[in-house]
Amino acid sequence: MTQPKTWSQRFESALDPAIARFNASISFDIELIEFDITGSVAHAKMLAHTGIISAAEGEQLVAGLEQIRQEYRDGNFNPGVDAEDVHFAVERRLTEIAGDVGKKLHTARSRNDQVGTDTRLYLREKITEIRQHLREFQTVLLDLAQVHVETPIPGYTHLQRAQPISLAHHLLAYFQMAQRDWERLGEIYQRVNISPLGCGALAGTTFPIDRHYTAELLGFARPYSNSLDGVSDRDFAIEFLAAASLIMVHLSRLSEEIILWASQEFSFISLKDSCATGSSIMPQKKNPDVPELVRGKSGRVFGHLQAMLVLLKGLPLAYNKDLQEDKEALFDTVKTVKACLEATSILLRDGLEFRTARLTAAVAEDFSNATDVADYLAAKGVPFREAYNLVGKVVKTSLAAGKLLKDLTLAEWQELHPAFAEDIYQAIAPRQVIAARNSYGGTGFEQVRQAIQTAQIQLQQN
Ligand code: ARG
Repeated sequence: MTQPKTWSQRFESALDPAIARFNASISFDIELIEFDITGSVAHAKMLAHTGIISAAEGEQLVAGLEQIRQEYRDGNFNPGVDAEDVHFAVERRLTEIAGDVGKKLHTARSRNDQVGTDTRLYLREKITEIRQHLREFQTVLLDLAQVHVETPIPGYTHLQRAQPISLAHHLLAYFQMAQRDWERLGEIYQRVNISPLGCGALAGTTFPIDRHYTAELLGFARPYSNSLDGVSDRDFAIEFLAAASLIMVHLSRLSEEIILWASQEFSFISLKDSCATGSSIMPQKKNPDVPELVRGKSGRVFGHLQAMLVLLKGLPLAYNKDLQEDKEALFDTVKTVKACLEATSILLRDGLEFRTARLTAAVAEDFSNATDVADYLAAKGVPFREAYNLVGKVVKTSLAAGKLLKDLTLAEWQELHPAFAEDIYQAIAPRQVIAARNSYGGTGFEQVRQAIQTAQIQLQQN
């Protein structure tokens, strides 16, 4: 292997081939090629605009760069490890195409501000795509919620039956998590959308460049105001990885619930064949692979966040080659989050069915209406703590007798407290128990219908 011609005459011998492979990032940073070309086009236009090169030279550079873009799209540009990285690969090809003028592209620029520009252009696009996937996920949740306002489901705390709730209310909790994810990515976008181009290697440049011009051409809100910060800042990558980690936290919580719900013990949902797999040995099995994979994949995204934090910690200013390690973390995170959002949306839309009869029976077979008995007494003037203790007693005797609260006779209720009347039966029926929680943000059907309207409005924001 020969030394890439790009190095200065300072070097006397070629790089050790194993070290060349170790050093090279082309195998993965080729993913940035279109962003690299877009950044270089803006740089070339700026060089011409400021008179650093001639207008004709600028046009030649832009045409050559666009030719490389086309060659890449056609599958005809596949640089190998000798190119080291995508930036060298494009510059080398440009010089093949445009001749000596190609060598002018790198005037007043460094790979340090170049790679920072590419990464931000990449992430801007990917954040937009992930936000679209989040919208799709929210739409599926909202559609399901609209169908299931009056479908009851046991609500849990400590994974113990607590109070029955509307299934729509449960689904809308995930809608709101996704809403925060969508908003958070929008906020992070603002900090991704700053241009490091023109920061040079670290200190700016001796040429009369126009950083505002390139920032504007590339759609950045503004250039970085400090060149050292511009080339060494990867805060935006950490923020993105943290936001991606939260998306994975939300998806993995939902996945865990779906896995539980699909178990024989819960039997709240049935999985459709399109989204479940069988066992190679146990013919009776139908496995929830999709939510299991989503739950499992969360680990790698959290890992990338940790890796990036450690990568940046203690790194002296300005650019260090350590920063080359940011790319695989970002690329894998983007790919993983998109795939998990997509798979979860498909699973919810087409891959599972809520077993409404079973859910309706489930909320009638426990003591999750006990709070409502206490509330009933409290509404009739009995101090809540006293009512709470009375109901605890009746739960205990009912459990011993193998009865539910709805099985107690009126005489038994009145023996407990004279305030009980015939309307206690209505008050502890699951439907009423849910409907009665009509406080703002609660599970009462009226509140849930309001929440659906709010969600529809949230979905329209952009
Ligand atoms: N491949 C490098 C990276 O990803 C590009 C920047 C290299 N800069 C340098 N000074 N060696 O970070």
